[in-house]
Amino acid sequence: MTDALFINGRWTTTDERVLGVEDRGFQFGDGVYEVFKFGRKRPIFLIDHFRRMDRGLRDIDIRNPWSESSFARTIDELLDRTAFDAGIVYVQVSRGEGERAHFYPDDMKPTAIAYSRRFRFPDDAKKERGIRLITGPDQRWTQCHVKSVNLLPNALAKKRAQRASADEALLVDEGVVREGASSSFFVVIKGRVVTHPLDEHILAGVVRDRVIGLALTSKIRIDERPLRETELFGVEEAFITSTTMGVMPVAEIDGRVIGNSRRGETTTRLQRLFDDLELSEISQQRATA
Ligand code: PDD
Repeated sequence: MTDALFINGRWTTTDERVLGVEDRGFQFGDGVYEVFKFGRKRPIFLIDHFRRMDRGLRDIDIRNPWSESSFARTIDELLDRTAFDAGIVYVQVSRGEGERAHFYPDDMKPTAIAYSRRFRFPDDAKKERGIRLITGPDQRWTQCHVKSVNLLPNALAKKRAQRASADEALLVDEGVVREGASSSFFVVIKGRVVTHPLDEHILAGVVRDRVIGLALTSKIRIDERPLRETELFGVEEAFITSTTMGVMPVAEIDGRVIGNSRRGETTTRLQRLFDDLELSEISQQRATA
């Protein structure tokens, strides 16, 4: 056995096919998900992920089958059952299974799953070299603060990036750069870090929030304001943040080199601070301790 899978109170592995074909997560994208990292069998920023999922479920009228403490217990057991020490956990709560109809009954039993996966996190060379981005239209719905499993526009944007030999797509809407298809986006302009404010146009990234906190305590100035696409090419530095990438420098956008083509000073500082913060999370007690 390698990974572990929790489904509605039962334990198995991802080799078993466990979902009904009429699960609304499958047919309607009717659910929310989370991805978090673990190291030395310790979850990283678990409560932040739980709280975002809880808010998302509330927003789309699904009952959360977990409390904060029962979630932490499930994750501890999941990681105990997992044969490897580090990787990611994928969590999804859908509205549940029932005869296909747009109208859903009020009393549906949500489908709750969580499973562990191995993951190849970026190595030091990539974290120094950075990644390439392309810009493209933001074709998502109007409630992007909900981490909905409807990821078709994100997946199509990512595929366009890959076909253009890039790693990530920057989503632009009404001339404003919102975020990456699976990441938060930051630039440095005149020594100040700029990122989109929290609203319905972006996901409240867990790493975004931690990086803003680190910047504030390190006297790095942060402006949360909409960034115009036209401002992109005058920036000194750019980076993205996400659970799987951490703080990742951006080397190029649409084929144009950002800054002086090397990982910028502010990006480097924030990347180190964030890596240290993750390590200190891992060395803390178990989630339920
Ligand atoms: N994606 N914005 C979007 C649209 C995202 O999908 C993600 C994360 C983020 C960054 O959020 P966080 O810092 O909490 O990981 C921002 C995850 C990793 C995914 O879909 O795999």
